[in-house]
Amino acid sequence: MDPRRRIFVPTHFPMKAALATAYGGLNVIRIAEVPTPSPKKNEVLIRIHASSVNAADWRLRRADPWFVRLVFGPFKPRRPILGVVFAGEVVETGAAVTKFKKGDRLFGWTSIMGLGGHAEYIALSGNGAFAPMPSDMSYTDAAAVPFGFGTARHFLSKAKVSKGQRVLIYGASGAVGSAAVQLARSICAEVTGVSSSRNVDLVRSLGATEVLDYTKDNILSHRDRFDVVFETVGKLPFKTSLALVKPNGVIIVGSEMPSQTLARSFTGKGGKQVTVIGGTAGESAADMQFLADLWQRKEIRPVIDSTYPLERIAEAHARAESWRKVGSVVVTM
Ligand SMILES: NC(=O)c1ccc[n+]([C@@H]2O[C@H](COP(=O)([O-])OP(=O)(O)OC[C@H]3O[C@@H](n4cnc5c(N)ncnc54)[C@H](OP(=O)(O)O)[C@@H]3O)[C@@H](O)[C@H]2O)c1
Repeated sequence: MDPRRRIFVPTHFPMKAALATAYGGLNVIRIAEVPTPSPKKNEVLIRIHASSVNAADWRLRRADPWFVRLVFGPFKPRRPILGVVFAGEVVETGAAVTKFKKGDRLFGWTSIMGLGGHAEYIALSGNGAFAPMPSDMSYTDAAAVPFGFGTARHFLSKAKVSKGQRVLIYGASGAVGSAAVQLARSICAEVTGVSSSRNVDLVRSLGATEVLDYTKDNILSHRDRFDVVFETVGKLPFKTSLALVKPNGVIIVGSEMPSQTLARSFTGKGGKQVTVIGGTAGESAADMQFLADLWQRKEIRPVIDSTYPLERIAEAHARAESWRKVGSVVVTM
């Protein structure tokens, strides 16, 4: 290997990582030393500075919903290092990598099928779903962008949200919701956010022109009003989304569980013409570049709920699965 392509990384030395070697509660998480990966010729070795604990991590750890086991291993997770996002610095490049060089600061997805973000180092394909960080972006901010904004961007693009449309974001203070409010506003959509009382001011500060408080307001008084209803937390009954959306509008079920999909298939759409968008959000390098550009133009800012060092990652998981977090829970290495 060309010595200019690498800086000293002791790959024969262990690195620290958070492991979940079984499915279960917080007690299955432990910090351990594992071998530092060596990059293959098409890979970059990244020193991770920050990651975040997201719904993907705690759902995978808990095998919730059950079909997680079909994909990630029937009895225990095949990939014990969780962490679907990262922000870090390239420390070594494989011989075939031309896109990145050592010292590049990158952020994005590790990939749901590979995971590995809750560790000090990761080797990723040079063609992975990540992009260079803006020079003045902190690693903490960068780790809080991919999950919420990447997911929100995926669904808003699929729904073809455009200028002037009325968009309702349900769960507007979560990682996906707080990102969706900002992205919809950046398209000049007219955003109505829905949250509990304590998050109303925050959601308004993110760019919502109107915020409904689901603990006080009668949401059903807004029937047939929205071009797009984006349900980000899986808490609003589908029939309520159906009542809120205009005829020929779009409902995004961003967090639908299999039982909800099944129930919806029986109840149908009550004769109303609407498009329903669901499924899994994609991981895209182009989206990360798009988000980096928006961040640079100050059109988006991730909301950070809390930050924990890797050693306290179990606390980060507890916060992430509480359904009370506001934006993202970041983990620093
Ligand atoms: N389809 C996909 O590919 C995909 C991708 C990413 C995420 N997801 C799913 O999307 C969901 C949301 O993820 P997230 O990380 O954004 O969640 P999150 O950050 O954990 O959501 C927390 C927020 O949910 C709000 N909330 C809790 N109960 C609520 C209720 N009954 N009504 C309205 N809001 C409520 C809370 O606000 P208040 O305290 O104000 O209520 C809190 O701020 C997860 O289930 C995740 O699995 C799916």
